[in-house]
Amino acid sequence: MPSIKVALLGFGTVGEGIYRILNERKEEIRQETGYAIDIVSILVRDTAKERLATPGIKITDDIQEILSNSDIDFIFEAIVGEEPAYSYLTEAIEKGFHIITANKTMFAKHGSALLKHAKVRDVHLGYEATTAGGVPIIRTVTSLLPADRVRRVRGILNGTSNFILTKMREAGIPFNAALHEAQVLGYAEADPTDDISGKDAFRKLMILSALAFGSQPNWRDVPVVGIDAVTIEDVADAFKNQLRYRHVADISIDEKGALHGSVGPVLIGTDHPLYGVDGVDNAIIVETDHLGALTLVGPGAGMYPTASAMVGDFLQMIGKRERVLVNN
Ligand SMILES: NC(=O)c1ccc[n+]([C@@H]2O[C@H](COP(=O)([O-])OP(=O)(O)OC[C@H]3O[C@@H](n4cnc5c(N)ncnc54)[C@H](OP(=O)(O)O)[C@@H]3O)[C@@H](O)[C@H]2O)c1
Repeated sequence: MPSIKVALLGFGTVGEGIYRILNERKEEIRQETGYAIDIVSILVRDTAKERLATPGIKITDDIQEILSNSDIDFIFEAIVGEEPAYSYLTEAIEKGFHIITANKTMFAKHGSALLKHAKVRDVHLGYEATTAGGVPIIRTVTSLLPADRVRRVRGILNGTSNFILTKMREAGIPFNAALHEAQVLGYAEADPTDDISGKDAFRKLMILSALAFGSQPNWRDVPVVGIDAVTIEDVADAFKNQLRYRHVADISIDEKGALHGSVGPVLIGTDHPLYGVDGVDNAIIVETDHLGALTLVGPGAGMYPTASAMVGDFLQMIGKRERVLVNN
């Protein structure tokens, strides 16, 4: 049976999730695709760190061991931050590897360049996991675009912020106590700045803007406000009036083609589609000419939702590869 060789860049929450899913579903994938999936290398920062045993797989801190291995077909990228991820993926695409990434910080800034590069080199580039984790928003918008026109995309793109706002309302506790609970439960990072400042939601919004409208607004023109601006008194007043705070990232296009974006807390009433979206869930409303409004709700982060979005990209790519092989 033919095999597909893959490498993982990063073996933290997401990388380990990919490893687990590819192993747990090994047999189903083999039967469905006709390929045995062989993880050959994993890139980490610290090879001495204790981690899940991965028998037979080379653990390395040298990216060139992976990029110089022409047996590898696919690279899953789940490391952190803009660099060195962007340089690694640029080189990988140039060398003809297919790529699947979860790295939203890198992709918000460099996604368009990488997609262009991938097209030129005729390789696949999947990025479903960069935005709203397990919610298939990239696939949904991609499939709508050929026959429809997206006018507006808005929603809750940061589960940590939504959890904190929910906890403040339900338990009547202040922001700091709700944030502490999010950290204890593992929903918030030790350094939660990007989540609570709105930066994380902003990056995902820019990825959606590039996809839905083919461009991003000037980043400086998008006001970004975090949930740390919302007090327990604000939440209580809203509750009395049957309103709820949601942290909403919003991007739309006007008749002249100008983009308008914003990220920040918004008060919404009972008839709003985001009113009932509590806890760590994400929710995205896509408005198009033909569909009206479509809302997707689901887990926006975590090991399995994020890794399964990446494996979903991977299997879709293998399917496309297979069709090419059959057609030829
Ligand atoms: N966690 C989520 O729910 C989630 C959801 C959506 C998207 N993402 C994105 O997915 C990516 C991975 O997130 P994560 O939560 O899995 O992070 P993580 O738990 O901190 O793991 C990061 C992994 O990348 C490795 N790494 C970091 N920088 C590296 C470098 N310069 N060279 C080689 N290896 C490096 C680390 O190596 P060591 O193990 O040696 O430290 C670690 O194995 C991030 O870009 C994140 O934004 C995460």
